Amino acid sequence: MLTAYRGDRVQNDGSQSIMSINPDELSGFFMVKRIVLLFLLALFLTQSFASQPHHAKNGIAVSEQRIASQVGIDILRAGGNAIDAAVAMGYALAVVNPCCGNIGGGGFMTVHLANGKNLFINFREKAPLHANRNMFRNEKNKSTKGYLAVGVPGTVLGLDTALQNYGTLSRKQIMLPAIRLAQKGYILTPYEARQLAQFRDDFREQPDVAAIFLKNGQPYKAGDRLVQRNLANTLAAIAEQGPSVFYKGWIAHTIVDSSKKHGGILTLKDFAQYNVKETALIECHYRGYLLITAAPPSSGGIALCEMLNILESFPLAQWGYRSAQSIRTIVEAMRYGFADRNRKLGDPDFVNNPVDQLISKNYARQLSKEIQKSHFAPQHEAITFHETTDTTHYSVMDNKGNAVSVTYTLNGFFGARIIAGNTGFFLNNEMDDFATKPGEPNKFGLVQYDKNSIEPGKRPLSSMTPTIVMKEGKIVMVLGSPGGPRIISSVLLTLLNVIDYDMTLQQAIDAPRFHYQGQPDFIEIEPFAFDFLTQKQLQYYGYYTSQQNNWGAVEAIRVDSNTGTFTGGNDSRRPAGAAIGY
Ligand code: GLY
Repeated sequence: MLTAYRGDRVQNDGSQSIMSINPDELSGFFMVKRIVLLFLLALFLTQSFASQPHHAKNGIAVSEQRIASQVGIDILRAGGNAIDAAVAMGYALAVVNPCCGNIGGGGFMTVHLANGKNLFINFREKAPLHANRNMFRNEKNKSTKGYLAVGVPGTVLGLDTALQNYGTLSRKQIMLPAIRLAQKGYILTPYEARQLAQFRDDFREQPDVAAIFLKNGQPYKAGDRLVQRNLANTLAAIAEQGPSVFYKGWIAHTIVDSSKKHGGILTLKDFAQYNVKETALIECHYRGYLLITAAPPSSGGIALCEMLNILESFPLAQWGYRSAQSIRTIVEAMRYGFADRNRKLGDPDFVNNPVDQLISKNYARQLSKEIQKSHFAPQHEAITFHETTDTTHYSVMDNKGNAVSVTYTLNGFFGARIIAGNTGFFLNNEMDDFATKPGEPNKFGLVQYDKNSIEPGKRPLSSMTPTIVMKEGKIVMVLGSPGGPRIISSVLLTLLNVIDYDMTLQQAIDAPRFHYQGQPDFIEIEPFAFDFLTQKQLQYYGYYTSQQNNWGAVEAIRVDSNTGTFTGGNDSRRPAGAAIGY
């Protein structure tokens, strides 16, 4: 018995494998009408209710692209569990959120299983075997654009590992929605069209990219349908043949050939040797809540726990929301968290990480005492940076008690901004997450050191922080965000907003954010994050602010511990997204 995706559910249709059909036939006659209706509805809803919280009893899926959230719900309705839904959403986002969703990048998945087990799947990209620590020393922009920037992608093996080990549906069932979306296209919202238009010049430089992401050489407009036939073929091949076609078959060959032609160093051995790891999570407690969160090679979980441990010593709620005193204290916690992140962490397959020390309550108490010694800001050399990042996060829960929190990325918007031949997907620029020039700022202004230097086969340090929060054995929140280093502060502030300031999930997500990472030595703030008087008070103590754009997107779930009802929150900064439940 095989299944076919019909737009709003997965059904048994008893027919032969849809994957053995030419992707041109995947369209299914009655699909067209339903998809058109679905997309028109999506376009309308996207503009109208993007950040409305959604309440549900049976299952919930939240992402920055409404269609992907719907795919997650369709899979749950069809009897899949949260892991099935998460894998289907990962593939769907690779189609409908091409800036950030991906099969050409990598990421992390934090899972709580209904049987009580917590697990962490690391599918972070790896440096190619011919990479070396000095490869970008005298190169400008090569760690962000073009083939030298590309790490060996992990998403396909990561999603497949999750599905094989913890899912219940077949790969073909799970991938069919994404294949159909690539084949039939989806309607671009104004937000998405604007985003594509911003990168028109990059797209024009690459014929393989321009052929898909420009329409007769011009940017797509809102209301246009974006069809990705090459990506549909690639996804259909993976659905049919599994990750081997990506890591050992024609997909690997196409990427390696293109890389060689364009000055890259990727080899077939890089792809053949790529592996996914299932490792222990980072766990810590904050004011009675248990956090299970990302482990190295992400710094996210450790930095988050370190900051929360420090903040636990302070009466943030009593001091008042966004009072100068609480802002200053949170900024100092961020200062210590980022200083340790940048110097002390790297890929655990290559370096020893002092995890136990960094997340210990004792260490946090020492740092809290330091923070109490003076109200004045320590001074640093100022470093400026302008580039921002992107990545994407999504959260999903089912009614069996499974919860999945996934953050995955191409690093920058559209990654290295290259597509190899007819593969149809962007390749990442994750090599820039290494300390490409130790001691000098990377594209996020992060100044990192030797532990995160480039080595063949090593994974770059990340800030991704897919997190699940529990209390008394029950899940209370699932969350994460894109945003490079601002991922950590976005997750931190959302948690503080809920736990310390008693906000609703949507209020907590939408509240203007701030971020501090030591260097550059100013507090980055979102418009309206601090009022005028508070900024003046902060300045008196030596804390300067700089208004910045691009503040990630927290896509989160909250569970009512009495009723078990799910509330989903889509970040209003991402109007194409949605929380959808049933
Ligand atoms: N590429 C962003 C991160 O992994 O932190």
